[in-house]
Amino acid sequence: MKKSITLALLFLSVFAFAQQKTIDEKVEALIKQMTIEEKIGQLNQYTGDNAATGPITINPNKQAEIKKGLIGSMLNVLGTKYTRQYQELAMQSRLKIPLLFGQDVVHGYKTTFPIPLAEAASWDLEAMELSARISATEAAASGIHWTFAPMVDISRDPRWGRVMEGAGEDTYLGSKIAYARVKGFQVNLGDVNSVMACVKHFAAYGAAVGGRDYNSVDMSNRMLWETYLPPFKAALDAGAATFMNSFNDLNGIPATGNSYLLRDVLKGKWNFQGFVVSDWGSIGEMVSHGYVKDNKEAALSAITAGSDMDMESNTYRYNLEKLVEENKVPIALVDDAVKRILRKKFELGLFDDPYKFCNPEREQRELNNPEHTKAAREIAAKSIVLLKNERDVLPLSKGLKTIAFIGPMVKSKRDNHGFWAVDLKDIDSSYIVSQWEGVERKVGKRTKILYAKGCGVESKSKEGFAEALNVASQAEVIILSIGENWNKSGEAKSKSNLQLPGVQEELVKELQKTGKPIVILINAGRPLIFNWTADNMPTIVYTWWLGSEAGNAIADVLFGDYNPSGKLPMTFPRDEGQIPIYYNHFNTGRPSINEDKIYKSAYIDLPNSPKFPFGYGLSYTTFEYSNLKLSKKEMKNNETITVSVNIKNTGSVKGEEVVQLYLRDKVGSVVRPIIELKDFQKITLNRGETKTIEFTIDNQKLSFYNNALELVSEPGEFDLMIGSSSADIRLRDSFELVN
Ligand code: GLC
Repeated sequence: MKKSITLALLFLSVFAFAQQKTIDEKVEALIKQMTIEEKIGQLNQYTGDNAATGPITINPNKQAEIKKGLIGSMLNVLGTKYTRQYQELAMQSRLKIPLLFGQDVVHGYKTTFPIPLAEAASWDLEAMELSARISATEAAASGIHWTFAPMVDISRDPRWGRVMEGAGEDTYLGSKIAYARVKGFQVNLGDVNSVMACVKHFAAYGAAVGGRDYNSVDMSNRMLWETYLPPFKAALDAGAATFMNSFNDLNGIPATGNSYLLRDVLKGKWNFQGFVVSDWGSIGEMVSHGYVKDNKEAALSAITAGSDMDMESNTYRYNLEKLVEENKVPIALVDDAVKRILRKKFELGLFDDPYKFCNPEREQRELNNPEHTKAAREIAAKSIVLLKNERDVLPLSKGLKTIAFIGPMVKSKRDNHGFWAVDLKDIDSSYIVSQWEGVERKVGKRTKILYAKGCGVESKSKEGFAEALNVASQAEVIILSIGENWNKSGEAKSKSNLQLPGVQEELVKELQKTGKPIVILINAGRPLIFNWTADNMPTIVYTWWLGSEAGNAIADVLFGDYNPSGKLPMTFPRDEGQIPIYYNHFNTGRPSINEDKIYKSAYIDLPNSPKFPFGYGLSYTTFEYSNLKLSKKEMKNNETITVSVNIKNTGSVKGEEVVQLYLRDKVGSVVRPIIELKDFQKITLNRGETKTIEFTIDNQKLSFYNNALELVSEPGEFDLMIGSSSADIRLRDSFELVN
């Protein structure tokens, strides 16, 4: 049996190599026919005529340009009808090179999933892979070949609005999620259910100074390699077809023109064979950075550094030919970029059939697939984080007579969709389930639901308070849904103030005076600050922006049809003054937990601890951790230690627990974090059930980048911690790495 599998694998790899060889031959044959204008055309990407996700540049007559083969890719063109129209223009060009259609399918196409940061809170890698796969299926059915996702930027700064697009602050969790999402998008690249992934934003964009979008980034290469690059490498290991560079300058050099990042690391050390697209206009923006004096120098810098395709800056279009003529850019550089792009077009099968992704019947079917809706509801429920449930108000009884459902988010549809929802203008958005609709469907005729908006999200007006108090007075339980609007987190949405906006927290205070049980839902794209609510309200649920099934998922959790299992992928600060705040920090010489009252690394006006820590989230049940065992207390580099632990569901309902394994390298040739996530398992336990789970400690889990940028593991003692969050360590042990 084994022999036949080996033979089959051998045949497949030979076939794949033969096929690839064929593609390479086709690329070589095609590029030999291309003029310099046609080559540069392949490096040129424009947005569709009626959509922009960046500052509009003055663009020529795109239709005419496509027919001349001077545009190689479009973005923000949606649907089989429109992509076909553009593709038909490309088929009128001399060489009939098909267009690539790219789109920000970041958390869903028509079916929208929780924003990526919310999905990360599920810690469910299979669920996130499925979400990406469904997003790819719907996008591919609508003529899209390529998604500008996953965004894998690590960030420790919730002032940065783009945290909503990523997987949070942790490199290990972020790397696992990056891998899963790429696998989901590219489940079988070339078939009509897959799209090319685009790993972004390369690199370290999430470390912008002050959390201000597009701002500078400055860090040691050691920190870059240890914290910010691993998720990109994980995505590459998953087979990511493309990368997107980032807007920021990194250590003084814009990522777009950063040959260390693009040539040395990505295309050199990592041997990336796909292509790099610039972010919107980022090549031309190097003039604004003051890194180059004009667009011609920008084009020279970017193509030399390894940016293959120019999104919307017109820089390659108007300067590359001249640079080649002046022998400032070797034609080989242009050819390399062109070949990388053509190779992907062949791999997608677009030369065989430029319209293979333009099937209206498939589009209709996939955009209305009940399986997608079901999956979105399940993933949304898994992404919800229960922050407090002190008086067991949750789950709500289905026998309640009257509920007051109050707040500016209750009937909103658009907010559930989040920032990067695809703007499907010609699709009615009524399919997005509001929280009101979700609860209404859940309780049916049994329970009367009273509604009051209470206040706006940003408004300072308290006019609605009286009505809110009035409906509250008639109800047994109050559900209050507040937060931030969908367009207050995301690109170009950095905030200096993370407090709940408007007068929402004052509404909380007024409703608290009623003395009735209140369930607070907080909808946001990032960690917000709500200290009074967190300190004074016993029942709080973080519902992020959960996508088109938000209402149903929230109702499933509120009424106990799904027991919440989410865990925070980012630290929640008490105050903006604590930022950057993250769990896996170094100890310093005067740690904040020092017994010394004065000389310690702490604020004199605020506790050092966060409001809610990384990895935190409650359940309607409880879990007991016991019987931690290590297979041995010493290991060599080529050995492993098996860690086993018993987890028991000690509550009254079935539930899921994310068991987290943390390590601390006690002494290193560079200082090491006091705690680092190195593994996790999300397990399901029926009431009273106990499971023994195992982890394997291998050399990779002990390794880090030293100052020489070598990935090393050093002999010495390691603390091992098993916990329900980074601040709720249930069991501890230690072991030694020996030579
Ligand atoms: C935007 C974003 C990037 C997106 C691109 C295309 O500026 O930075 O994430 O993929 O432009 O919309």
